[in-house]
Amino acid sequence: ILDDFTNRDFEQIVLCRDPEAGLESVIAVHDTTLGPSLGGVRMRAYPTRADAVADAMNLAQAMTYKAALAGVALGGGKSVINVDPRVANRDEILVAHAKYIASLGGRYIPGVDMGTSVRDLELIGRHVPVASSQRGDPSYFTARGVVRSIEVALEAADRAVAGARVAIQGLGNVGLHAARMLAQAGAQVFGADIDPQRVRRAVDEIDLVAVDLDDVLLADVDVVAPCAGGGVIDERVVAGLRASILVGAANNMLSHDALARDLRERNIIHVPDFVANAGGLLAVEAEIHDAEDGLTERVDAIADTARDILARSASTQADTVSVALAMAREVVENKRKHRPYF
Ligand code: NAI
Repeated sequence: ILDDFTNRDFEQIVLCRDPEAGLESVIAVHDTTLGPSLGGVRMRAYPTRADAVADAMNLAQAMTYKAALAGVALGGGKSVINVDPRVANRDEILVAHAKYIASLGGRYIPGVDMGTSVRDLELIGRHVPVASSQRGDPSYFTARGVVRSIEVALEAADRAVAGARVAIQGLGNVGLHAARMLAQAGAQVFGADIDPQRVRRAVDEIDLVAVDLDDVLLADVDVVAPCAGGGVIDERVVAGLRASILVGAANNMLSHDALARDLRERNIIHVPDFVANAGGLLAVEAEIHDAEDGLTERVDAIADTARDILARSASTQADTVSVALAMAREVVENKRKHRPYF
């Protein structure tokens, strides 16, 4: 952890324990140059403690870059509670975690993530200086940014959404919104979800074509959109992808960054997840700063960033993840040079 902490430029990692409540958690503050760090509270029993720390760090780092490229004045953070979300004394654990968040004096702003709900954030919000995700679900805006990014990728391939075939893995909050928008724009939408009820809902509502769980990422379509868990795009999937476009919402969808090079070598157009899925962060920023005006336009502007990244990648031969990370780091560095010392 200590090596990672230094090598990856983390500002702060807080390891928290409250044996009486049964809390074991991590708060990762990657970078606060652009503003206080923001990121969800993930609740999940990890195979090992090291896995919990690694997840918090990877997700926090992605938040820094997501905010930088979306023009959001917030830094990157994340926290994970290494406990099964079905635990009996859930509220006690959330409050114990909130007290550690409060000890950071606003340097970390919590939000909803896997395993936590709006109600949980209301509870945490009673114990911390600022909390987000209390006004509702940002996933419509996340889906909107993903759809804008799919449009840009199709445009780069001289195609349009109308008539395109898109396969979505995960028909949850983001996946269903995206499926609706794509269907409305004339795409033929395919999808799979481990929850059969969610598939049925999409089939009934938008005539989605249900595909097998194991086939969805390798389906014979134009676009694959992972909108379920992270790490789903590994060597096997990259080698077997039949789609020529990979754009989705799932955070950290590539099992490691180097796969972006393989995607480029296969001429697969890829808008990185932390670019395409920034709509949710923009919605949360609007909530925190009470600035809902212009939110839709700010989300739609994700298309400009995606277009810029694809153009730079085409002209430099660098993969899109490397291009996007370099652009994000430049935003943070420029701000660092000009901010007053604190
Ligand atoms: P969700 O929990 O509402 O939906 C995920 C769906 O994926 C569920 O319906 C679940 O049953 C399904 N699923 C899980 N494993 C699957 C598998 N192996 N194959 C097929 N389906 C599977 O989550 P949500 O909010 O829609 O988020 C989706 C992804 O987007 C996550 O990776 C999340 O981190 C990311 N994201 C979400 C944002 C938001 O605003 N909700 C913002 C940015 C990123």
